[in-house]
Amino acid sequence: MLTLAIPKGRMFEPCLALLNQAGFTDDAATIKSSRKLLFDLDKDVRLLVIRNTDIIPYITNNIADMAFIGSDLILEDGTQTDYYNYTNLGIGRCRLMTAAADKETKPSWRIKVATKYPRIAHNFYAAKGIQADIVKVRGAVELAAITGLADQIVDIVDTGQTLSANKLYPLECIADISMRLIINKGALKNKWQGMNAFIAKLKPSIQTSTDA
Ligand code: PRP
Repeated sequence: MLTLAIPKGRMFEPCLALLNQAGFTDDAATIKSSRKLLFDLDKDVRLLVIRNTDIIPYITNNIADMAFIGSDLILEDGTQTDYYNYTNLGIGRCRLMTAAADKETKPSWRIKVATKYPRIAHNFYAAKGIQADIVKVRGAVELAAITGLADQIVDIVDTGQTLSANKLYPLECIADISMRLIINKGALKNKWQGMNAFIAKLKPSIQTSTDA
């Protein structure tokens, strides 16, 4: 039996649609409307539905054999010792950006930055010679820039609507983001037959038109 983790939240439906298209479930509607967190997709694959930030712990603790996860969380994790970043799934494309209430970045050697991504933010500003005092927030990151909790934010920008609705300006792109298939290294070794069958079934449904 293989265990696949997928995230709740905004990427839940695109992940289900991909699994549906690849023929893993013909009952995505039931999964979508259910409050259950664990499903049998077929006799070989079970599905865990968890918070995106919990996916890597489920992989590194060998509960999940593989997962659909945003490359933002892989970047933030930064270790990749327990899993392979196997392939781009071609869904969930967006950008990780800095943003602020002012259009121009004021030159400063030290700024306050609010983000869900402290590691990425620290490294990004450090590479520019800026000391970032990081305020870790879990959501509604834009609010930090509006209220003055932070000078800048580092966050996902998809349509850009949240920034413009809150009169914030996108500044710099840190990374292009997309959903990835990651594979637990141990599981690949021990369950390679099932894993190969899963990947072979999934592959035709993956759109590979991006390198993000
Ligand atoms: C994400 C992200 C931005 C927003 C960007 O938040 O953190 O706030 O989406 O999308 P847009 O560019 O299309 O407006 P999400 O909706 O996942 O909720 P959260 O703030 O609670 O994390």
